[in-house]
Amino acid sequence: MRTIAVFLLLAGFTGAAWGNSNGVPAQLSGVPGEGNCSACHGTANTGQGSVSFLLVSATAWTPGQPVKARLTLNDPSATRWGFQLTARATQDPARMAGSFRIINNYTQLAANAPPGFQYVTHTLAGTFPGVTGSASWEVEWTPPSDAGFGAVSFYITCNGANGNGQADSGDRVYTAIFSYQPSAPSLGVTRVLPQLAFGSSSTQGNWSTSVYLHNTTPSPVVATVRFFDADGSPLAVPGIDDSSTQVSLGALGTGVVEVPNIGPLTQGSVFIEAPQDVIGYGIFRQALQGVNPQEGVVPFSSSTATGAAIVFDDTDFVTAIAVLNPGSSAVAVTVHALDANGAEIGTFTLNLNPRQREAFAVRDRPEMTMVQGQRGVLKFSSSGGPVSVLGLRFNQLAFTSILPAER
Ligand code: HEC
Repeated sequence: MRTIAVFLLLAGFTGAAWGNSNGVPAQLSGVPGEGNCSACHGTANTGQGSVSFLLVSATAWTPGQPVKARLTLNDPSATRWGFQLTARATQDPARMAGSFRIINNYTQLAANAPPGFQYVTHTLAGTFPGVTGSASWEVEWTPPSDAGFGAVSFYITCNGANGNGQADSGDRVYTAIFSYQPSAPSLGVTRVLPQLAFGSSSTQGNWSTSVYLHNTTPSPVVATVRFFDADGSPLAVPGIDDSSTQVSLGALGTGVVEVPNIGPLTQGSVFIEAPQDVIGYGIFRQALQGVNPQEGVVPFSSSTATGAAIVFDDTDFVTAIAVLNPGSSAVAVTVHALDANGAEIGTFTLNLNPRQREAFAVRDRPEMTMVQGQRGVLKFSSSGGPVSVLGLRFNQLAFTSILPAER
């Protein structure tokens, strides 16, 4: 009894340490710095066969969206079959890409994989003894959750064996690498926040901005959030250290992009590129020394409207506006101020370059001094392209956003 137990233990040990027909231990997929099957079987890539690989019905990978991967080995003289594969970042093969899930009993995860890595290999049944011509294996692969991961390479080693139950030069080893790009994020529609504020100023306090996003659909989507300075140039913001970021939203998922209060007060605008079914809003937070912080909420504005109206109350309050050209050509924006009786009390025109944004207290414009002490409406209309407008009103320490009606 005792002898048999020891023998089984040894057999189990050799099975794990040596590649064989029960599956091959990890790190034999041909990743740079790792091995392949030719250490024991035939010299790699000298046979008549060929390896093909595909992600079923996909030409690119979609963040977080599981896909079936199918590997096929064609070899005219093989009668027994085996393989091992793994997925890595193309730019950095030492980095695992996504994860595998076994979906039938022809494949398994290879033993002895280093922590954080997965290799898929054949099972004994998956050597398909006696099958000729070709053999295929399938496994489910879940890609990285962020398209920013970049291209993914599948490292593959296959063995078209002669079925004699030995590792010998009659077996033909093939290595292959197949690479896939992330799918281009669905651009959907572009919406904007005409105001972005972060950082500190001795007179205007400490500002930060958050952008909340929610995917109302049952499929994962990617949203791109871009930041621009007041002149319309891409703006690298703190917290992201870049002028844009991609947000992967799973089915019914919610995400947030935070631009914290770091550095001097900086203003600009935010562009959100996402499918129409992604909803959200922006939050501005202002903290003045010794005063409770306050927040204002702003919904996303359309990037195609050519007009807007803002109802204002400049009696006890100061009305400020942010006017953004969200388009790609210069626009002229005409602003008319009407008093409570609909009579015009001021007008001026703003010329804005693409993505340029102006913000100011309305009464500070020389043509608009009459709004002070009045209630009424500010009507904006643009020619040459779209315009996005946001109002803010201040009463000493308090502020809130005023939502425009767009057209
Ligand atoms: C360290 C040595 C070693 C490595 C590396 C190795 N094998 Fe093997 N392999 C064996 C041995 C020993 C046998 C025979 C015993 C058995 O069938 O279990 C074998 C048998 C096989 C067989 C059956 C061969 C036949 O002709 O019947 C297949 C298929 C196979 N290995 C696939 C692979 C694949 C695929 C790889 C690489 C991903 C691999 N092996 C790497 C040692 C190795």
